[in-house]
Parts: sequence; C-alpha cells; structure tokens
Amino acid sequence: MASTAAPLALFLLAASAMGGGGGAQAQPLVPAVISFGDSTVDVGNNNYLPRAVFKADYAPYGQSFARHQPTGRFSDGKIVTDITADTLGFESYAPPYLSPQASGKNLLIGANFASAASSYHDDTAAMYDAITLTQQLEYYKEYQSKLAAVAGRATARSILTGALYVVSTGTGDFLQNYYHNASLSRRYDVGRYCDLLVSIFSGFAEKLYKLGARRIGVTSMPPLGCFPASIRLYGEGPGACVARLNRDAETFNGKLNATVEALKGRHADLKIAVFDIYTPLRKLAEAPVEQGFADARGTCCRTGTAKTRVYLCNPTTAGTCRNASSYVFFDGVHPSEAANVFMAESMVEAGIELVT
Ligand SMILES: *[C@@H]1O[C@H](CO)[C@@H](O)[C@H](O)[C@H]1NC(C)=O
Ligand SMILES: *[C@@H]1O[C@H](CO)[C@@H](O)[C@H](O)[C@H]1NC(C)=O
Ligand SMILES: *[C@@H]1O[C@H](CO)[C@@H](O)[C@H](O)[C@H]1NC(C)=O
Repeated sequence: MASTAAPLALFLLAASAMGGGGGAQAQPLVPAVISFGDSTVDVGNNNYLPRAVFKADYAPYGQSFARHQPTGRFSDGKIVTDITADTLGFESYAPPYLSPQASGKNLLIGANFASAASSYHDDTAAMYDAITLTQQLEYYKEYQSKLAAVAGRATARSILTGALYVVSTGTGDFLQNYYHNASLSRRYDVGRYCDLLVSIFSGFAEKLYKLGARRIGVTSMPPLGCFPASIRLYGEGPGACVARLNRDAETFNGKLNATVEALKGRHADLKIAVFDIYTPLRKLAEAPVEQGFADARGTCCRTGTAKTRVYLCNPTTAGTCRNASSYVFFDGVHPSEAANVFMAESMVEAGIELVT
C-alpha cells in the first residue's frame, strides 16, 4: 500500500501556509467535525438502536481499530472520517451522538449522527430502523443546545461555524430500496430518482447553513456496481463490476456536482465541496494490484450467503482473511481501512478547499 505520510504532510503544510492553523499542529485545523449519514460514517450510533437491522457490534469489525474491539464502525479499522480527523490534527474522534460518551467536554470536538442503513430518502432508513436524515438533523439541533450549555453561547457559535460538516449517505437509497422496489422504480426512472435524492441533499445543506454550518463536505455516490455484494446480486459474469449500477452512481454524481455548484452560487460565505469517493474506489476495484492491493472481488471477512446477508460479515462464521490491508473490501459493501486511507488521500484537495 502507498505510504500515507507524504500526502497528509502536504495537506497540513498547505493548510497552515494558507492560514488554517499553527505549524506545530497544536490545534486542529477546525474546531470540530460533525457527521451525518449512513454506515460509511456511523461510528456506533446503531449500537444504541435496539431494532436497527444493520450493526457492526461484533467481531471481526474493529479488529485493527484501537483495542481491537468492534465499535460500530463498518470496517476492520478506521473509516474515512477518522482518517480525516487524524489529518486535521485531532487526537480523538467525535463521539456517536446516542452514546453515553456524547456529553460534557466530549461535545466540544463535534458529534456523529450517522446511522447504518440511513439514506437521503427517509423511507429507506425507516425500512431498516435506522435514524433518518430528518431525525439526524433534529439531534443536531439538540446538540447545539447541549454544546451551548457546555461551552457558553459565543464559543458554541464559533465552534459550529468553524466546524467541518460531513454528509455521507445515499448508497442505501439504491441498494436497499430502488433496486428491489418495483413501485419506486415504476414511479421514478433513474434520472428522476437521482433528482429526488439530490434535492433532499440540497434541502438538508440549506438547513445546515441556516443553523450555522459554513464548511460542508458531501461524499459522492461510490461505484455501486463494484461492491462484492452487488456483483453477487446483480453481476452478469464473474469478476466484472456491474456497469449499469456504476452508470446510476455517475448520474447521481453529475447532479450532485451541479447542486453543490448551485449552493456555492447562492451562499458566498459557504464553503462546500464534493468528497469524490467514486473515482478512487473504482480505481481500486478495477486495478487493485497497481495500487498495492491483492484482491478487490473477494471480501476479507466471510459474508452471509442469503440475499439479504451478502452485505455484512457473517456473525456466526469466525475468522477473516490473514491480511485485511491487501483487500479493497472488508465486507460486501464496506472498504477496508487500507482502502479508506487510499480514498482519503484522494480527497485532500477538496479538504483543503474546505478548511482554509
Ligand atoms: C418502496 O419505496 C417506498 C418509498 O421509498 C417505500 O415507502 C416502500 O415501503 C417501499 N416498498 C418496499 C416493498 O420496499
Ligand atoms: C464532478 O466533479 C468532479 C470535480 O470537479 C469531477 O472530477 C467529476 O468527474 C464530476 N463527476 C461527474 C459525474 O460529473
Ligand atoms: C499486507 O498487505 C499489504 C498490501 O498488500 C502489504 O503491503 C503488507 O506487507 C501485508 N502485511 C503482511 C503482514 O503480510
């Protein structure tokens, strides 16, 4: 795997040169990181939802994370927001909002509202008993009051204005809803469905802006057709990514780009950028060896085989691959930590745009 040191150092250097923070990295480049979305950024909220369908609260999830314990992160180790927080100079991670850790001074560095199987469309999240995006925003409002109580109103305001907001969701709207929901796909063709999802994002970003957010990063739709689970469910031959699903992701991403440009145009004081995960993940999925990975088709942990179980590690089958860093995918839909590091590196430019 490529060394991560160079791009990260470059990032810090560029950011501090542009006035983002002190050279000694005493202070993180932004006061807080606040995340919304699905399993790509959930750091444990679903552990506190008794009925949630998707949880990562069992081994081998977390096997290469601190203390080698499952935390609720859907990977062997760090997810993209963890790597971003490391890069920004944080020494700890914003807590999952539903956990007991989300209180007192821990709230000063942000909070994480994400929930696995959440989605842009609230209906998708509700089908899996995840926290809808609408409810995540309600929790965020509650967080604002709690933060003011801990830090005082003025400090809270400056934390909320300076914070980096990450929105990462949408995969479930396709994989857990659109692709097997005939009434939905009859009602909307792919283009119109993408319009619907992107308009939900746009409304969400507007609300965040009104509540004080000024730096928003939104991830693109990943290459849906390259997930091992997708190849299993929708593939036409062994090995190849499902072209149709990747085209859908590209349709979404084109519209997301346009919406982000429109938001920029409407708000001169809003920094907003797309964190493009599509391009690096597709590169990894189609040419893993060139990037230092051994396998992009298999999964490091053994997933279930039933249709609804190809997404996650199978809790009843112990054991994983010997070396998670040689796999692009840890389970049927979630990248390994090594792949997350690779993706985070390619987002450095968008990151600099947001935090300087
Ligand atoms: C299909 O999607 C709609 C809208 O998201 C949702 O209300 C409905 O429950 C879904 N139906 C099935 C069978 O998944
Ligand atoms: C979205 O914008 C990025 C950066 O400008 C570009 O690299 C990417 O190709 C665009 N994606 C689509 C699908 O238009
Ligand atoms: C694990 O795989 C990575 C990437 O293929 C490789 O760089 C590393 O040396 C491997 N580690 C071990 C212990 O085999």
